[in-house]
Amino acid sequence: MVIRKLACWSVGKIFLASQSFFVSVSTMVKTESFRGRDYITLLDYSKEEVETLIEVAIDLKKKYALWEPHKLLDAKTLFMIFYNQSLRTRNSFEAGMTQLGGHAHFLDPSKIYAPALEGDEKAYSTERVSDVARVLSRMGQGIAIRCYGDPVGWQYGRANEIINNFAYWSDAPVINMEDDKYHPCQALADVMTVKEKFGTFKDVKFVMSWAYSPSVHKPLAVPQSAVIGATKMGMETVLAHPKGMELDDEIIKQCNVYAEENESSFEIVNDMDEAFEGAHVVYPKAWTCKEFIPPFNDKPELEKSQEVFDKNKHWICDDDMMKNARPDAFYMHCLPCDRGFEVSNSVVDGPQSIVFDQAENRMHAQKAVLALTMR
Ligand code: CP
Repeated sequence: MVIRKLACWSVGKIFLASQSFFVSVSTMVKTESFRGRDYITLLDYSKEEVETLIEVAIDLKKKYALWEPHKLLDAKTLFMIFYNQSLRTRNSFEAGMTQLGGHAHFLDPSKIYAPALEGDEKAYSTERVSDVARVLSRMGQGIAIRCYGDPVGWQYGRANEIINNFAYWSDAPVINMEDDKYHPCQALADVMTVKEKFGTFKDVKFVMSWAYSPSVHKPLAVPQSAVIGATKMGMETVLAHPKGMELDDEIIKQCNVYAEENESSFEIVNDMDEAFEGAHVVYPKAWTCKEFIPPFNDKPELEKSQEVFDKNKHWICDDDMMKNARPDAFYMHCLPCDRGFEVSNSVVDGPQSIVFDQAENRMHAQKAVLALTMR
């Protein structure tokens, strides 16, 4: 519960006052605010805190490269509930918790009693989130959840509500492994990867672009979190999409605030070539048309998204499109990518692609979140 978590932060501050921090990071880092905290969206973390997460992640990455032991979460357990599929998220959390000396426990909602909000319950096949959260936080030190799309009937925001309800009831930190609004673990790995490549966010032109996919079953979490991360850290951010593919207005508003605070820029354009011009980083991927899902529409009508998608098949990141960007521009994607649709094989497998650095950094970035929040 929120009150109990606040008490835990105070204890954490006393603990930190009496002990030196466990990894050798610069004196600029901010550590006292992390212990016991949920990680649901980057909106909840200051720019300075995200810088700290990146610094700790890079430190842990060096330790991993040298195979130096860093059992910072010895014998601790992270419960992971996956309502959706995953390659990177599941395995980066499992491997990361092992390296930290703890254990990541995989939970399939169909093999437990699927956690459900009040009103969505079905006798003996679901269990109220408030009960699941309180049970698991008696046994482990963290709860991570992935939920979006079909499990919540494509009701935009419903999965985020489930995760927030977990956070309300759990004594342990709750980590969002991707919901229908945010993918903060991906966004942290993304900004960490940019920082590694450029050493700075200043004057880096970052383009988050829609790209065509034959599947419309694509949540908005990655593009929304990518523009939150890019504007929060002060990159010159461009969001590109065909008309009809707008992101959440509230998130766009917040990105404008971040750009203003950082004296950087945030621009929205409806042309992929124009967006790519002079870009240092391009990040083209598909997302669904939110106008055809609730609450923006009475019911999910994803097939209507298909019509908009099919008019925009030319939104592909191929060699010709890459020529608009700087010659040394990096191509990013959270993966899995739709080869031949979102991106050509030549680009994703080419020298400008940094998708596997991003995938690797998922593990290091999440280890920083785990080590700082689950201490
Ligand atoms: N990028 C990402 O979250 O990958 P997975 O869906 O494989 O976890």
